[in-house]
Amino acid sequence: MAIRPVLRLGDPRLLEVCTEITEFNTTELDNLITDMFDTMQAEDGAGLAAPQIGIGLRVVIFGFDKNPRYPGMAAVPMTVLINPEISPLDDKKESGWEGCLSVPGMRGEVSRFSHIRYTGYDAAGNRLDVTAEGFHARVVQHECDHLDGIIYTQRLNDPRKFGFTQELLDAGMLAVAEHCE
Ligand code: NI
Repeated sequence: MAIRPVLRLGDPRLLEVCTEITEFNTTELDNLITDMFDTMQAEDGAGLAAPQIGIGLRVVIFGFDKNPRYPGMAAVPMTVLINPEISPLDDKKESGWEGCLSVPGMRGEVSRFSHIRYTGYDAAGNRLDVTAEGFHARVVQHECDHLDGIIYTQRLNDPRKFGFTQELLDAGMLAVAEHCE
């Protein structure tokens, strides 16, 4: 299919609340998901949400075996998640550095729930019900935020812990294990 241009921060389409999918197993949905995987892999993303390619539907994908943008992180299973719902399993949160293909070359520190359960559907309409922790949980929360028009820059712990990746690495704020690009 096709690698699609990724919208960047400032594009108002990234701020919209997306619409639920009501029909599964359609060519249109399958094509959208193929384009999302092509785009995510071309950009070495850990995940991608449909609105990032200008499609206002509640579809996210994520997962990788090894990711050059997050070399220290354990693998996350390749997942298509449609109409997702997230519930934290406890109150524990952890801080970590995030990046986003819509905010290229930058990183910011964000606090996320450590343990979550997420539910939704795959492309064929099969129900998913998964528990996740650590970076897996972080990626799911980041991607699902996109469906409500929320970019991680709106959730920064401290606006001083946000900046260009190279400068953060040079300053020792960001470890190479968390990022090298
Ligand atoms: Ni993102």
